[in-house]
Amino acid sequence: MTATFTRMDESTAEQWAVIGAETAKNQPRVADRTLAMLRSLDSVVDGFATDQLTHCLQAATRAERDGADPEVVFAALLHDIGKAISVPNHPEIAAAIIKPYVHDDVYWMIKVHQDFQGRHYYAHFGGDPNARDQYEGQPWYDLAARFADEWDQTAFDPDYDTLPLEHFEPLVREIMAGTRSAVGAPKRYDNRPQ
Ligand SMILES: [Fe+2]
Repeated sequence: MTATFTRMDESTAEQWAVIGAETAKNQPRVADRTLAMLRSLDSVVDGFATDQLTHCLQAATRAERDGADPEVVFAALLHDIGKAISVPNHPEIAAAIIKPYVHDDVYWMIKVHQDFQGRHYYAHFGGDPNARDQYEGQPWYDLAARFADEWDQTAFDPDYDTLPLEHFEPLVREIMAGTRSAVGAPKRYDNRPQ
């Protein structure tokens, strides 16, 4: 079925019900497009020792092996997907892609990951290695720090036993199908031993 209006101010509730149903039916397209975008990172190298697909897979592999929540593993996998489009603002692109499917802590972990990562390299550009300090006190601070310090900045090793994208595909499809849509409730993800 197709809604027949040619301008929105002539649309009806019935037509929007059709569009809503079609959009919901096509939700698996989100995971398909996201996985395709992620795969395209295999051609983004930009001087690093690994391409950006391998880097993303390695960050997700490290997070999973450290027992991170599946939603955090999902976010680790996609954290640099924005580089498929634009490196300078890649954290915001990735954060926007995952926002409807993850809890706030995980969204922020990705949105500001570069400033946390900066601890390990901003000094080389005359930047502030303590850029993360502006986020002190945020409930997701420890999670974002753990992501940057343990899983992201360490994930440029071509010799690491990195899991393939196929391993993570079911997780991407499950989360992006909206089955975790109860994202309104706050949830804390820092599972670092207290
Ligand atoms: Fe990264």
